[in-house]
Amino acid sequence: MQVENDSADFSSPAVLSDQSLLADIRLLGRLLGDTVREQEGAAAFERIETIRRLSVAVSRNGDMEADQKLDALLRSLSAAEALTVIRAFSYFSHLANIAEDLHPLQQENGREPGLANTFAHLRKASIGAGRVAKVLSNGWVSPVLTAHPTEVRRKSLLDAEHAISALLLARQHAKTKSELARNELQLRARVSQLWQTELLREARLTVRDEIANTLSYYRTTFLRQIPLLYAEIEERLDGLRIPPFLRMGTWVGGDRDGNPNVRAESLATALRLQSETALRFYLTEVHELGAELSISRRYAGCSEALGELAARSGDDNPHRDDEPYRRALIGVYSRLAATLEELTGQQAQRHAVAPANPYADARAFLADLEIIDDSLRCHHSEVIASQRLEPLIRAAEVFGFHLATVDLRQSSDRHEETIAELLAAARVTETYAALSEEEKRELLMRLLSDPRPVRLVDASYSDNAASELAIFETAAVMRRKYGRESIRHYIVSHTETVSDLLEVLLLQKECGLMRGTLAPCDAASVAADLIIVPLFETIGDLRNAAGIMRDFYALPGIVKLVTNSGAQQDIMLGYSDSNKDGGILASIWELYRASTALAEFFSQLPSIVMRLFHGRGGTVGRGGGPSYDAILAQPPGTVNGQIRLTEQGEVIAAKYANPQIGRINLELLVAATLEATLLSHGKTPPQEFLDAAADLAQWGMDAYRGLVYETPSFVDYFFASTPIAEIAALNIGSRPASRKPSRKIEDLRAIPWSFSWGQARLALPGWYGFGSSITRFLDGDDGARLALLRRMYQEWPFFRTLLSNIDMILSKTDLSIAHHYAGLAPDQALAARIYGEIEAEWGRANRALADITGSSQRLADNPSLARSLHHRFPYIAPLNYLQVELIRRWRGGQTGDDIRQGILMSINGVAAGLRNTG
Ligand code: PGA
Repeated sequence: MQVENDSADFSSPAVLSDQSLLADIRLLGRLLGDTVREQEGAAAFERIETIRRLSVAVSRNGDMEADQKLDALLRSLSAAEALTVIRAFSYFSHLANIAEDLHPLQQENGREPGLANTFAHLRKASIGAGRVAKVLSNGWVSPVLTAHPTEVRRKSLLDAEHAISALLLARQHAKTKSELARNELQLRARVSQLWQTELLREARLTVRDEIANTLSYYRTTFLRQIPLLYAEIEERLDGLRIPPFLRMGTWVGGDRDGNPNVRAESLATALRLQSETALRFYLTEVHELGAELSISRRYAGCSEALGELAARSGDDNPHRDDEPYRRALIGVYSRLAATLEELTGQQAQRHAVAPANPYADARAFLADLEIIDDSLRCHHSEVIASQRLEPLIRAAEVFGFHLATVDLRQSSDRHEETIAELLAAARVTETYAALSEEEKRELLMRLLSDPRPVRLVDASYSDNAASELAIFETAAVMRRKYGRESIRHYIVSHTETVSDLLEVLLLQKECGLMRGTLAPCDAASVAADLIIVPLFETIGDLRNAAGIMRDFYALPGIVKLVTNSGAQQDIMLGYSDSNKDGGILASIWELYRASTALAEFFSQLPSIVMRLFHGRGGTVGRGGGPSYDAILAQPPGTVNGQIRLTEQGEVIAAKYANPQIGRINLELLVAATLEATLLSHGKTPPQEFLDAAADLAQWGMDAYRGLVYETPSFVDYFFASTPIAEIAALNIGSRPASRKPSRKIEDLRAIPWSFSWGQARLALPGWYGFGSSITRFLDGDDGARLALLRRMYQEWPFFRTLLSNIDMILSKTDLSIAHHYAGLAPDQALAARIYGEIEAEWGRANRALADITGSSQRLADNPSLARSLHHRFPYIAPLNYLQVELIRRWRGGQTGDDIRQGILMSINGVAAGLRNTG
């Protein structure tokens, strides 16, 4: 397959760097075409080529005759023929992604953000190394990987794609013709492998699969790249040493909100496998160091402590008698091997030279490494230490024996049920759930101030309650085994009241995770192991967020408890659900307001560090968009060196599958955190900006809710005109597709909601309501209001990022394709009415963007993405057309397996083609 070359695109020297990207895409397209011809025959290849040419003609030139021909051709395909076409266009999208992921900086709006730039800005603002080091030393920056089901690619495909990515990188360094030919042959083999590999998962992913998938990114990227990033930061800080501030988090194995497959055993498995990943990495590095530190005592000498470490190693090989570093490392290896066995039951690859005791914790391992490091430094070997030992020390500091902090998450109603059972069995009350909020608070505070437990040793609790209690108990065991950093956060989904937080505190108390009580006499010692993290996720909850925290902290003993427990308060903000509830403008604005209000409240509690945790997905309707811009768009005073954010689904591979790209993405996170903390301080936007945003948000919400929640039969239209029902069969995650068997939009999880709109090429959650809101704002305007919006766009990162994300998502919509999906609805009068409204709003959104940004072209400030989509759209459209056709056949009763497979593969291909769709 070929990529059309629109030479006009490449006339400007500014975009010359895209040429190598396009060359890569063309190469992969050609190899895919060859593979199809070879394996499926000339007729299949010709069919695909015809479809491609027609689709290009439709998409680039709006050729209506080509459109009719394409439609007729696609409708005439048998299910088996359709499958081959779908696979071909899907793989093309996968291959184009691989090439694009190697060119990430172009995707960042043509700018080149990164540490070099950030430090230049800091210097310009006269902010010295000491101040930056202080922010980082008190900082906490954490990407948190989750298993949200939006990654459509199987692990085997990801691995093959990773190999293709590595070959493309190697190709850039190939010098001779024969090197190039060999590289092409290797690429050809990989493409051929892809073609013969099943695109879809036949069985649902298990939690263990999800854990294993996540761990692969540590091996390829995090374990090595994070220490290197620290080294670069310290170099930029004139060698100032900073304690760990950048660390990894994970939800995989700990997030059981709506996922009954995540249980106490999953948590134990996650930590065991995490620990194994960390320890095997350390073992390899220690072994390699042993080979490299062949330093003889005769030439370099060593410290007394190193000598003692060597003496304790149990290594009495005479050949190494004079090599104390090697001997010391042999001892370290043996202790690590024993630690691996103790913590995971697994054996190290190489036998320990002598039996040894396991390390009590990662600090003890670090202490040994530091002895080696100190000795090297004192004996002219600093340069040797800097190569492998120092990155290893940094890795041990950051990853410990637990690798990443596992968050626990559960929905507040499940806690309530568990507490109700405990209280009923203990005859405290039979009607806990029916109590008012005031009564619940009063009762919970009484129990939390009483040293006696309410949990009965021999009571037979329901499976639900028992499995909830088991999680808390396992958390206590895991913390003892893998260290306190292994589990720190307990996230309470759907936090609506203060009692939702107190319930989790009581569960901690009943399971050995809380010491002392809230009674004044215990004030000095009361502490809880897990930070109770509310998740505010609807518009109403976001509006109440600061009030709930104020009421929580006003309760007797809470400030003391949090202070004694580490003085940190994480608060999680839900982007997707607030968007599903109120549309994009209200969601983004209420997140902004909640963050500001929370920061204001916590400024009155200076002894406690507040940290916002952003629960964002990949697509714009779930808070997606470039993370760098998103962090800079945070309200002033809300970052302060503290940030956690989720990395989910397809975003994880795009950002972290390749180590170099992973490094850049981690660097961007740190760069943005520093800029948001040190450079946007005090830059409160003018009141007129805030007032305008509040009006826009309200009017956006009116329009969005008017369509989604107030239009009669909207739910029927949604279910009929998107592949929502088919998405559930994709097997892309371990959790069930929905929480409740209901068709109410309120009950639907946000992922299938936005995923299905992405497939239907409307991506409605990312923009709906924006056009109406701006139109209303400008109604009767004499020019002053438009001027205000333009200033907001120019001067306010919050508004600029919002518009840039809306621009991006609108550019991925395609109304002519969306119209085909509307044709699936049995009630065509209803479809015409609702689709008509969506179309009108789409027009308003485009006009509004043009008015504010001054450009009627979508993506005017992101030419790389614009070109990418321009080239990719003709390859996605046939997938959409075929998806609609096959859904029509399926819903019409043709329920053959080919049809089912075709629908699922087309979903996979469209998701890959559009990128960040889930
Ligand atoms: P959740 O995620 O449904 O797991 O709360 C929401 C989202 O990220 O879309």
